[in-house]
Amino acid sequence: MTKLTSYPKEKINILLLENISENAVLQFNNAGYKNVKRIKGALSESELIKEIKNVHLLGIRSKTLLTENILRSGKKLLAAGCYCIGTNQVNLQSATEKGIALFNAPYSNTRSVAELVIGSAIMLLRRIPEKNTAAHSGIWLKDASGSFELRGKKLGIIGYGNIGLQVSVLAEALGMEVLYYDAEPKLPIGNAKPVRTLMELLQQTNIVSLHIPETASTKDLIGKNEIACMQKGSILINYARGNVLDLPALAEAIKSGQIGGAAIDVFPDEPEKTGSTFSSVLQNIPNVMLTPHIGGSTEEAQINISEDVSFKLLNFLEKGITTGSLSVPALNLPTTPNTHRILHIHKNIPGVLSSITLKLSSHNINIIGQYLKTNDQIGYVVLDVDKNMSKEAFSLLKDVKGTIKSRMLW
Ligand code: NAI
Repeated sequence: MTKLTSYPKEKINILLLENISENAVLQFNNAGYKNVKRIKGALSESELIKEIKNVHLLGIRSKTLLTENILRSGKKLLAAGCYCIGTNQVNLQSATEKGIALFNAPYSNTRSVAELVIGSAIMLLRRIPEKNTAAHSGIWLKDASGSFELRGKKLGIIGYGNIGLQVSVLAEALGMEVLYYDAEPKLPIGNAKPVRTLMELLQQTNIVSLHIPETASTKDLIGKNEIACMQKGSILINYARGNVLDLPALAEAIKSGQIGGAAIDVFPDEPEKTGSTFSSVLQNIPNVMLTPHIGGSTEEAQINISEDVSFKLLNFLEKGITTGSLSVPALNLPTTPNTHRILHIHKNIPGVLSSITLKLSSHNINIIGQYLKTNDQIGYVVLDVDKNMSKEAFSLLKDVKGTIKSRMLW
C-alpha cells in the first residue's frame, strides 16, 4: 500500500499519559515519529489544557478525564487513544462534535479473562477456597468428597461473544461439553452447541459463566428465578458486569446449597481506587471467590492494548482509516495510486456532499475515489483526487459549510 503522509513526521507531537507501556513509544518511534512525550501519571484538567496545545495524538488510560475544556484546547488534536477498554472518562459527545477520532482496545484482554474463568471453575470444583483458608489457619482439610474434575462437566456460556468464545475453546480443550446462549444467532466454534433459551441453558449445565455486556436487556438477567432453574450444586461465574447478576439472591442460593460455588469479579458498586475498602453480601461465604475486577488485568493484555491502540492512531494519522473509532464514522479504505487523499469531517447537515461535489466539479477536479459515512452528529468524507489538483481541491473543501476538520494526506 502506498505510504501516505503529508505531515513531516518531526512535526507530529504525541503525548502519552498514565504510564502507557514503553511499547507504544517504540511503535511510534519505529513508524518515524520521534516527538513522543510520556508522562507517568494522569494530569489534572488545567495541566492537560496547557500540555495539549500542540499535541496531534493523545494517549490516556482510565484516570485522565478528557473534558470539553481539554478537547477545546487541543486545537491540533486529531485523535485520542484510550489505552484501556472503557471510554467513560472521555466526553464522547464533545470529541465527536470536534471531529477528534477516539479509539480504544475493547478486545485486547479477552484471553486473560477466559483463562481466569477456567481457572476459577477448576478451583471451585475442587473447593480450593475453603481448603486454602483452612490451611492458612493451620487446619489440614484432606478430603475428596465434594471435589470434582472439570473434564466431562457441562459448561453453559451466556453471551457467546469474544470472551465467551475463548472460554468455549479452552473449556473444550479440557474435555468439557459446552452449551451457549446468545441474544443473536452465533456460529459455534468446535463442538459447542447453541441453545434457544436461557432457561434451557441453566437447566442443562453444571457450570454457568456470564459473558454479556451491560445493557438494558442484561440488567438482572440472572436473579432468584433463574438461579432456582439451575442444577443443584452448580457453579456460577460472573466476569462480565456487576449488574447482570442479583448478588443477594446468589448469596442465599449458596447458603441453601442450590449453588455449589461462585467466582465473582465484577460488582454493582466497585471502589474506584486500588486499596479502597470494599463490601459485598458474598463475603465470608464458603466456596466463593471474590476478585477486584481483574479478569482482564494482565501484563499481556497491557501489551495487546498498547499495540492495538497505537496501530489505530497511526492508521488514522497516515491513512485516514477510522475502523474502531467511537466518534468519527468508521471508514477503512485502500489507497489509490497517483492520488492525494483529502479527509473532511463535517457537521451532519443536508447538502454537504453535494456541495463538495459541486465545488470540485466546477473546477474540473477529478474525484477518483469518494467515500462517505455519517453518524447522528457528523459526517466523514474521504476523497482520493488527482494529485496534480489536490492542493486546489483541498482549499475549496475548507470552505464547505459545516466543515469541522479537514486535512490532506500524501
Ligand atoms: P462481546 O460484545 O464480544 O460479546 C457479548 C455477547 O453477548 C454478544 O455475542 C452479544 O450478542 C451477547 N448478548 C448481548 N445481550 C445479550 C442478552 N441479553 N442475552 C444473551 N446474550 C447477549 O463482549 P466481550 O468482549 O465478550 O465481553 C463480555 C463481557 O465481559 C462484557 O460485559 C465486558 O464488559 C466484560 N469484560 C470484563 C472484564 C473483566 O476484567 N472482568 C474484561 C473484559 C470484558
